[in-house]
Amino acid sequence: MLAPKIVLITGANRGIGLEFVKQFLQLKSPPKHLFACSRQPETAKDQSSIDSANAFVASKVQGDGVNLRINNAGIGVLSNIHEANREVMAKVYEINAIGPLMVVKSFLPLLKQAASVDPAAPLSCNRAAIINISTSLASISGNTSIGFHGITSGFYGYRASKAALNMITTNMSLDLKNDGILATAIHPGWVKTDMGGPNALIDTVTSVTRVMAVMGKLQGEEGTGKFYNGDNGELLGW
Ligand SMILES: NC(=O)c1ccc[n+]([C@@H]2O[C@H](COP(=O)([O-])OP(=O)(O)OC[C@H]3O[C@@H](n4cnc5c(N)ncnc54)[C@H](OP(=O)(O)O)[C@@H]3O)[C@@H](O)[C@H]2O)c1
Repeated sequence: MLAPKIVLITGANRGIGLEFVKQFLQLKSPPKHLFACSRQPETAKDQSSIDSANAFVASKVQGDGVNLRINNAGIGVLSNIHEANREVMAKVYEINAIGPLMVVKSFLPLLKQAASVDPAAPLSCNRAAIINISTSLASISGNTSIGFHGITSGFYGYRASKAALNMITTNMSLDLKNDGILATAIHPGWVKTDMGGPNALIDTVTSVTRVMAVMGKLQGEEGTGKFYNGDNGELLGW
């Protein structure tokens, strides 16, 4: 059963992130602390904003650490080969891949603290976990057609940045499993949000219900370093 004591979610002011907040608060055992993070665009451009978020959380959790960190914030860019310039590529990598790595790096002591509360417990989202919200569009083996539901963009930046996030996820899973921290990537489905648009297949309630069901089942070494399709709970090809 999914029941992490302390949860942090990025991009929590709208879309999928906001629905995570709602559904965590509706759990049978809701978190003791839930940090719903959103950026302040004018100040969220450097490491100091990550460090101050870290210091704020540490002061609130008082030694309990952070059990579950969901890196949900991201941008989708519909760049085809002609539109994929240096600026667009760098921006999407910065937000979708480099950002999640930097925040996890900063929050590692808090994740380790949570993991050490019960050193004998198997890896899980209740003990200590990083969930990176990825996309099926990042699957290299699944990339067999340039279009997506009628959108004829190659999604160069979006696909590549999320594939980088997937690689970062597997690195983290290998690096951190001996510290008791799980790291897995999950695709939330094609969801009706600002990013997914009105033609998407599912709403945020359905998406988050499914993703949280996947999270609740992640257990032990089997649950870490994976790329799940939240739509059906099955593994996606890298
Ligand atoms: N919707 C889909 O169909 C779909 C499919 C596959 C994967 N995903 C993934 O699911 C996650 C959530 O997407 P969504 O559909 O909920 O998108 P959304 O409605 O566009 O929301 C994106 C969230 O990310 C935040 N964000 C964007 N740029 C940021 C930055 N530079 N720094 C900090 N926060 C930033 C936004 O904050 P602001 O309000 O401040 O901009 C917002 O909270 C993303 O990682 C996305 O790639 C979505």
